[in-house]
Amino acid sequence: MPEFPHAMLREIYEQPDALTRTLKAYLSSDGLKADVAAELSSWSNPEGEVLIVASGSSRHSGLAAEITLEDLCGLAVDVEYASEYSCRGGRERRRPSAIVLSQSGETSDTLASLREARRRGHHTLAITNAAASTMAQEADVSMPLIAGAEKAVPATKSFTCQLALLYVLALYEAARLGQMDAATLAAHIAELRKLPASLAAQLDTWRAQMFVLAQKYTNAASFLYLGRGVHYAIAREGALKLKEASYIHAEGYPAGELKHGPNALVSDSVPLVVLATVDRTLEGSMLRYEKTVQLLEDMKTQGAKVIALANTGDEAVKCLVSDCVEVPPAPEHLLPILEVVPLQFFSYFMALEHGVDVDRPRNLSKAVVEQPAG
Ligand code: G6P
Repeated sequence: MPEFPHAMLREIYEQPDALTRTLKAYLSSDGLKADVAAELSSWSNPEGEVLIVASGSSRHSGLAAEITLEDLCGLAVDVEYASEYSCRGGRERRRPSAIVLSQSGETSDTLASLREARRRGHHTLAITNAAASTMAQEADVSMPLIAGAEKAVPATKSFTCQLALLYVLALYEAARLGQMDAATLAAHIAELRKLPASLAAQLDTWRAQMFVLAQKYTNAASFLYLGRGVHYAIAREGALKLKEASYIHAEGYPAGELKHGPNALVSDSVPLVVLATVDRTLEGSMLRYEKTVQLLEDMKTQGAKVIALANTGDEAVKCLVSDCVEVPPAPEHLLPILEVVPLQFFSYFMALEHGVDVDRPRNLSKAVVEQPAG
């Protein structure tokens, strides 16, 4: 068993078990659970509109869910910052079903958003990592993660469990709406069940590789993380993780936006981290991949330093970039769960390079909760 000098490293390693527990709670041996489906049917709205509200890393899992719920279920999804939603006017003609995502279940802005959504008459679902939290208790439906206590300020296992549970939610919704036949549903569930083992098999390799890359890129002034579609969420999360853990500036961008401004920043001291995985069974994923490969070709011509995350054995990407991190194959909407883990390791080792107390970075707290006045 590897050593864990920090909670963040231990929690990165706990992810396969955390995922297994969370999946077990929401899937039966032969598929979807009838009691979960019944609870969700009271939450879903007939118009197929969903509002997701969250902060920080939790909002990034919401960004991934936006694409997954749209692609697998045809739902219309909006993702809001809790700090914005909770302060807006509240004149709304739509009646979306609302989801609040929160590791702690206590973040003030997200809790205020939950209360605002209820005030507007929306059905609410809380996905938290604390079954007894305020959000879990106040929402109409609670679907707790079974990630186990997360101590380090940078979220790791709660994030991957959120992604997995939101994927499960998409399967329940797809089945309810008749968007997926039984065979396709069974195939998705089978792929989902493979994830914990697939992740566990990679952890030591990624740990060793990211340790080396953190040393190589230690002097970078800033990083731009790029991704398309569901991978954009991981670009955002990878960049946030680096900022939180190592105090190095980073931004996550949609890959196609690089040329609309941020490319002016790219230099020897500003490398790119590019999500370049693909699910070759899916036309949309192939299109995204081809556009990403084109971008990598342009970046090679430009002389940019690039760390890419690509499918295992993808020589086309490997020969275009400075460093390539291999990700095992998975369906498009599950790839994020794998992709984010090497980026967690990268942030962890960057934190060590820069002497940061990674479990308790300055100025941050695990949950941003307003103190009562007085
Ligand atoms: C704080 C933490 C972040 C977290 C965010 C939302 O900013 O430092 O890691 O993502 O709160 O927390 P929540 O508990 O609502 O997911």
